[in-house]
Order: sequence, then structure tokens, then C-alpha cells
Amino acid sequence: MEITLAVNGQAYSVVPEGRRLLAVLRDDLELLGTKLACGEGACGACAVLLDGRPVNACLLLAEAAAGHEIVTIEGLSTIRARAIQEAFVAEDALQCGFCTPGQIVSATALLERTSRPTREEIHEAMAGNLCRCGAYPKIERAILRAAGAT
Ligand code: FES
Ligand code: FES
Repeated sequence: MEITLAVNGQAYSVVPEGRRLLAVLRDDLELLGTKLACGEGACGACAVLLDGRPVNACLLLAEAAAGHEIVTIEGLSTIRARAIQEAFVAEDALQCGFCTPGQIVSATALLERTSRPTREEIHEAMAGNLCRCGAYPKIERAILRAAGAT
């Protein structure tokens, strides 16, 4: 059955056939910034915004995302999202970069709802985003920088 997904401000007709949102984004819409890592909701590499809240696209059925606003890393264009991306570069907050799209998606959601988060709020908001390279201190500094707290 065909459904319509609203992704990065555009409407797409897709036939999900029971697939997860991540598969539709990557395979059908060729939005490859959203990564597949664990595939079971444990790492945050596949984070996208669903009506402004971060969700793991590897768990969510594409059908369940119909009727919601989906934003992927490619569509993050707010001033705040740009500030976060610049802060990640300035703080060198990545090594291999594989987790970075998911980290930036989650950080954007955090700063959209809490413009000056505490370190504890950052830890809580980013707890679902794992980084195998261990860039956590730099990621925290980047978020603080983007929030204007450094
Ligand atoms: S790939 Fe979705 S949470 Fe790890
Ligand atoms: S920068 Fe390599 S997994 Fe995070």
C-alpha cells in the first residue's frame, strides 16, 4: 500500500511493505546521512526528528511515520542546527564520524527545547547516542558551545 511521508519539507509517495522508516529513507529516498548500525534501537546512529522529537528510525515502521513531519540530518537547516554543526567542527567532536548525524539530530532536538542545557541535561538527552570512538567529552563541549555556554 502506498503512503505519503513528509520528509525535510517534501512529500514522498512510498510503498513501505512493512519496512522500517530507516530502510525507506536510505533505500527509497536515498537519504544516506541517517546511518544503520545496531539496527535494534541501541545506538542512535539512525536518529531522525519526528515532529521535532528524536526517534530511532531503525525501529519505527514507515507506516507509523505517515502524517508526521520527519527531518533527517540532510534537512536540519535551522540556525540552531547550523550552530551545532559548526560547533562539532570547531570542537573536533568526531573521529570516524559514523555516529555524528545521529548526535547532531539529538543535540538539535535538545537545544530546540532547552536553549541552555546543563551538563546533566546534555547527558540525559544524548544517552541514546553511542560513539564507538569515545568522542563524548568533545561532543559535550560542542553542544555547550552551540548553546553559547562556552
Ligand atoms: S541503528 Fe538504530 S538505534 Fe542503532
Ligand atoms: S566518531 Fe566514530 S563512532 Fe562516534
